[in-house]
Amino acid sequence: MQKTKSYLSDTVSRLKPSGIRRFFDLAASMEGVISLGVGEPDFITPWGVREACILSLEQGYTSYTANAGLLELRKEISDYLLRRFRVSYDPADELIVTVGASQALDVSLRAIVNPGDEVIVVEPSFVSYAPLVSLAGGVPIPVQTSGTYQFKLQPEQIEQVVTPKTKALIICSPNNPTGTVLNAEELAQIAHIVAKHDLLVISDEIYAELCYDEQYTSFPAIAHMRERTILINGFSKGFAMTGWRLGFIAAPKDLATAMLKIHQYTMMCAPTMAQYAAIEALRNGADDVERMKKSYRQRRNFFVQSLNELGLSCHMPGGAFYAFPSIQSTAMTSEQFAERLLLEEKVAVVPGNVFGASGEGYIRCSYASSLEQLQEAIRRMKRFLERL
Ligand SMILES: Cc1ncc(COP(=O)(O)O)c(C=O)c1O
Repeated sequence: MQKTKSYLSDTVSRLKPSGIRRFFDLAASMEGVISLGVGEPDFITPWGVREACILSLEQGYTSYTANAGLLELRKEISDYLLRRFRVSYDPADELIVTVGASQALDVSLRAIVNPGDEVIVVEPSFVSYAPLVSLAGGVPIPVQTSGTYQFKLQPEQIEQVVTPKTKALIICSPNNPTGTVLNAEELAQIAHIVAKHDLLVISDEIYAELCYDEQYTSFPAIAHMRERTILINGFSKGFAMTGWRLGFIAAPKDLATAMLKIHQYTMMCAPTMAQYAAIEALRNGADDVERMKKSYRQRRNFFVQSLNELGLSCHMPGGAFYAFPSIQSTAMTSEQFAERLLLEEKVAVVPGNVFGASGEGYIRCSYASSLEQLQEAIRRMKRFLERL
C-alpha cells in the first residue's frame, strides 16, 4: 500500500525553520563574504581547557557521568555562581549539567508547561524560545520591546498580556540580538510584576560574562526571586566553548528534580570530556574570560561608533557581542537590506525581523570578528549606503 499521509505532528509541521539559516546558506555559497552573522565567539577555547579534556581522555574517563553531571563540576558551578553572581545553589540537588543552554531551555519548558499554558517571550529574542514553548505544548505570547527604550522590557507590558493561563516569562540579559542589559533596578521592577501574578521566570544568562559597562545582576539575586526562577547559563559564549555543548540549569530543588527526570530519560548526561574541560574553565579560566571580554569591548566601541557615523543609529549594547542598528533611514525592510548588502557588498548580517516583529527595521551584526574584518565591513556598508 502506498504512503498516503504525513507522519509529522501538527506542532512540528507548523514550526517555521529559523530565518537565520537562509542567510547563512546564501552567504556560504558566495566567496569573499565578511560574516557578521554568526552568534559565536571568534576565539578558540583557551588551551588550558582543551588540555584538561585531552588529559581526561588519556586517563580513560569515557563513560557516562551521573545524570545531573559530575559532582565535582556541579560543586565548581555552585562556587562560581556564588562568587560571580551572588546566588547560592546546592550542587547535590539544585544544579543540572546540560547539553548547552539550548537543552537547558528545552528541559525547563517541558518541565513546567501543561497543554495550552502561556509563556511570555520578550522580543526581539533568541530564535529558539517561541518554538521550544510550542514543542512543549505551550503557547508563546510575544511581547514587543521598542528601540525607543533600547529594547528594555517595560514591566507594564507584562501586565498587558498576563492571563490566568500565563505560566512563565522568559528573559534574557544581556540579550541576543539587541545586546541590551537589564540593571538591578529594572530587574526588580520586573520582579514586582512577576510576584504579583505568581509567575515563574526562565532567566537565560548565557551572556552574563560578557557585560561591559556595569556590574551584572543575575535575576535570582533579586529579593524573593530565587524560588520562582530557573536560571540558565553555560560555557558557550563567555568561555568560548560553543562546540563543547555544555550548559547548566540552577533551580530550586522541586523544579530541578522534575527537570532531572526529563534530562535522565532524553539525554542521560552531558558529554563527559566536555564536563572535565568545564571544571578547568571554572577553576582557572577567569583571566582568559577577562582577556576575551576586553577584546569584545574594544571591538564594540569601534563598531557601534562607526555604525552611528554611517547614519545607522545604534544604541551602545551593554553586553553580548551584537550590535542592533536601525536601518529605517534607508526605507528598506530588514530582509531587503540584509539581502542587498550580502549580494552587492558581500557583508552578511541577520535581518532583525527573524527575532520577532519588533526587530523589523533593524539588523543584527555580530562584532565577534577581527578588527580588520569589522573595519572592512564598515567600508563596504558605507559604499552600500552611499549608493542608495
Ligand atoms: C540567548 C541564547 N541562549 C541560548 C543559546 C544557546 O547556547 P548553547 O550554545 O549553550 O546551547 C544562545 C546561542 O546563540 C543564545 O544566544
